[in-house]
Amino acid sequence: MNRVWQQPLPEIYRQLSEPELRLRIETAKEALNGKLAILGHHYQQDAIIDYADFTGDSFELSRRAAEQKGIEYVIFCGVHFMAESADILTHEPVRVVLPDMGAGCSMADMASLDQTLECWEQLKETCPDQTIVPITYMNSSAAIKAFVGENGGAVCTSSNCRNVLEWALAGGATERQSNGDMKGKVKILFFPDQHLGRNTAYAMGYPLDKMVVWDPREELGGNDARPLRDADFVLWKGHCSVHALFRPEHVDQVRRDHPNMKVIVHPECKWEVVQKADMAGSTAYIVKQVQATPPGTEWAIGTEVHLINRLKNQHPEQKIIVLSDCQCLCTTMYRIDLPHLCWALENLMEGNVVNEIKVDAHTRKWATVALERMLAIKGTGNPIGKQQPQGTTVD
Ligand code: 13P
Ligand code: SF4
Repeated sequence: MNRVWQQPLPEIYRQLSEPELRLRIETAKEALNGKLAILGHHYQQDAIIDYADFTGDSFELSRRAAEQKGIEYVIFCGVHFMAESADILTHEPVRVVLPDMGAGCSMADMASLDQTLECWEQLKETCPDQTIVPITYMNSSAAIKAFVGENGGAVCTSSNCRNVLEWALAGGATERQSNGDMKGKVKILFFPDQHLGRNTAYAMGYPLDKMVVWDPREELGGNDARPLRDADFVLWKGHCSVHALFRPEHVDQVRRDHPNMKVIVHPECKWEVVQKADMAGSTAYIVKQVQATPPGTEWAIGTEVHLINRLKNQHPEQKIIVLSDCQCLCTTMYRIDLPHLCWALENLMEGNVVNEIKVDAHTRKWATVALERMLAIKGTGNPIGKQQPQGTTVD
């Protein structure tokens, strides 16, 4: 789809005070009652979460989008790739709005369709006797999701990555040979987050030397043909710039300063960080772990700062700190604020759909297939499979 840029916000929305904005948002929500659902990702600021009908990680919000019936609009308070997925998964009449078109994701932008097609050609040429199953992390454009859907693969999120990879290693939805067997060895091409791919594959028992990184700016992704053929996982060279801020030394520091503290991180963190942590999992997994532990539990959390601060406020009976002292802020998530939400809602109230996210029909067809495969594979939220605190279960 062609990305539409954010038009300047009418000045009035910048001049309103927070109480005025809140009053106007509440009035608009009331007027749109029964026609609207607001979905809010865990990384949104508290002021936005206050108006979300549903909050969750990207898997949960996709599920919520798919089950909305009888309404006209979904306002997606998150980033662009999440709103695209919501548009694909919602029933036909539902229109999806992203309050600020500038809310993108640098990781999703690290894999373009052209680069993907080029990679696919080169891989097929280098490994003609193998079955290659493409899997993309939710944090990718609808075009990449459509590509994996059309080629026998699926989307995964950080909460069901391991289960999706198990499905893919059994051949995914790729064509079987006439005798029903897969063609040769099964290889996974994983987009665009090398860290989620590596952390999950390692937890499944694959050694690091069975994984190669594909740099889209280099011939054969920067690899020789032999290691490329031998690899079980080809990991796209992408990463999240927020989670890249957490380093192994931060875990060492916490171990020295707070010997009783549990370290829990998102699997977008580097492998070295995840190895030193006690637990790793999706944003929903992190929330559930904190909710399930007794008062007095101490946590150092490695993920986006808005979620950590919210958990800190909601659980004063626990001690919660950010794993590093840097500002681990997702600046694009942060673009969704009260002025933009108010502007989008007031336009809807007048029948103007601003910032509509609409995926074209061709992309939608195969992206739907890839996303529905994802929704059918339930996750554990705990891709690295490390030990959970006593008495905790995660569904
Ligand atoms: P979750 O799938 O855990 O919601 O994470 C999405 C994301 O963008 C993390 O950076
Ligand atoms: Fe993208 Fe990272 Fe922000 Fe998640 S935290 S939306 S991966 S930039």
